[in-house]
Amino acid sequence: MGDVAVESNAAISEAVAELNMDSKPSVQDPTENPTPNVAEDDDEEDFVDPWTVKTTSARGIDKAKLIERFGSSKIDQPLLEKLEAVTGKKCHRFLRRGLFFSHRDFNWILSRYEKEEPFYLYTGRGPSSDSMHVGHLIPFVMTKWLQDMFDVPLVIQLTDDEKSLWKGLSRKEAMKLARENTKDIIACGFDVDKTFIFSDYQYMGQRPEFYGNIIDIQRCVTFNQVKGIFGFGDSDCIGKIAFPAVQAAPAVASSFPDTFGENKSVPCLIPCAIDQDPYFRMTRDVAPRVGFPKPALLHSTFFPALQGAQCKMSASDETSSIFLTDTAKKIKTKINKYAFSGGQATVEEHREIGGNCDVDIAYQYLTFFLEDDEELEQVRQDYTSGKLLTGELKAKLIGLLQEIVADHQKLRAEVTEDVIDEFMRPRKLKSRFETKK
Ligand code: TRP
Repeated sequence: MGDVAVESNAAISEAVAELNMDSKPSVQDPTENPTPNVAEDDDEEDFVDPWTVKTTSARGIDKAKLIERFGSSKIDQPLLEKLEAVTGKKCHRFLRRGLFFSHRDFNWILSRYEKEEPFYLYTGRGPSSDSMHVGHLIPFVMTKWLQDMFDVPLVIQLTDDEKSLWKGLSRKEAMKLARENTKDIIACGFDVDKTFIFSDYQYMGQRPEFYGNIIDIQRCVTFNQVKGIFGFGDSDCIGKIAFPAVQAAPAVASSFPDTFGENKSVPCLIPCAIDQDPYFRMTRDVAPRVGFPKPALLHSTFFPALQGAQCKMSASDETSSIFLTDTAKKIKTKINKYAFSGGQATVEEHREIGGNCDVDIAYQYLTFFLEDDEELEQVRQDYTSGKLLTGELKAKLIGLLQEIVADHQKLRAEVTEDVIDEFMRPRKLKSRFETKK
């Protein structure tokens, strides 16, 4: 392993520069966008880090700018065509519609798949509340599709420890939420033979290999660096400062010895919301020094609040989204009452001017959940021309979400304690690849 970087009192700017190492073209993927991650843009409209997502635009975050600032790559048409070519299946609607819009090294993962070289999937969730909303399902829906396409092992990290550090939850509370959230995750349809869901608190003591990798990573990251990436200050508790290594460690295959043994060379693909990228920039940065391949990433955009894409969505604000526990009636009331409309004030005006899909939340939600491309396009045209009224558009979304949420509730109710125990038991996961040990 390489030496731990020398401690220094270098200015933050230096740390930021260090951390932009990953914006150099990757060895694994020479097509990676080489644009540095330094904030050169003077208009700081959008702010994105793992704890805060702010935009002033009703259209949501500026994806192109984020790609440039983070030094990631756009998921473009040729890449989607390659995905379709290797899997022989049509791309998921999240990919077709640019809801997953940015990536790191995904080309490389696809090439590995073509060559029958192993990789695994890694995603996670910070269990901060027992009421998950429909937006929380997005990374899991994507991951489930990827698991079906690639037929590879999947690890899902529940960072209950993170929630103790940031939200002050007791260990018991945080672990309870992790188990509750596990039910919602299992209800997404993951294959138990290929999926391991773990709580940090629990797994840390079960497999010393995991903790060992955390320590190896911690040795390679200085305080100066985490300050630069995450903006930690002198009065943040040391738990926060050390935590990024905990989220990085599942990207090392040997953290899962039951499946990979001591093998560190199997890379992972991480589907996540783009606000999690700082963790994985750090992970990719330390990877060569710790001796594991850089994880590949697929980044999603944010799911907008009912009140509009510029509003903060929060699990504690009942009215900001549709929760997985909402009744059909509640879904209807919430959408009718709170969903920000891009329609006009009166029917006459609407017929004349038409609606604005770019800011209309009911339309935005349909882009996430309506499977049929032609139907969605028809809705867009009709709403834009004024043929379709806001009430009609909302009714369409209401029906769809009522169905999705009811299906989810049914599947969740079928998740027994035994099923949870099985998903959370450290064990060898199946894979299409013969994993060499
Ligand atoms: N920090 C993430 C959250 O608060 C949870 C998480 C852990 C995660 N590992 C991950 C998310 C990997 C995506 C991918 O939600």
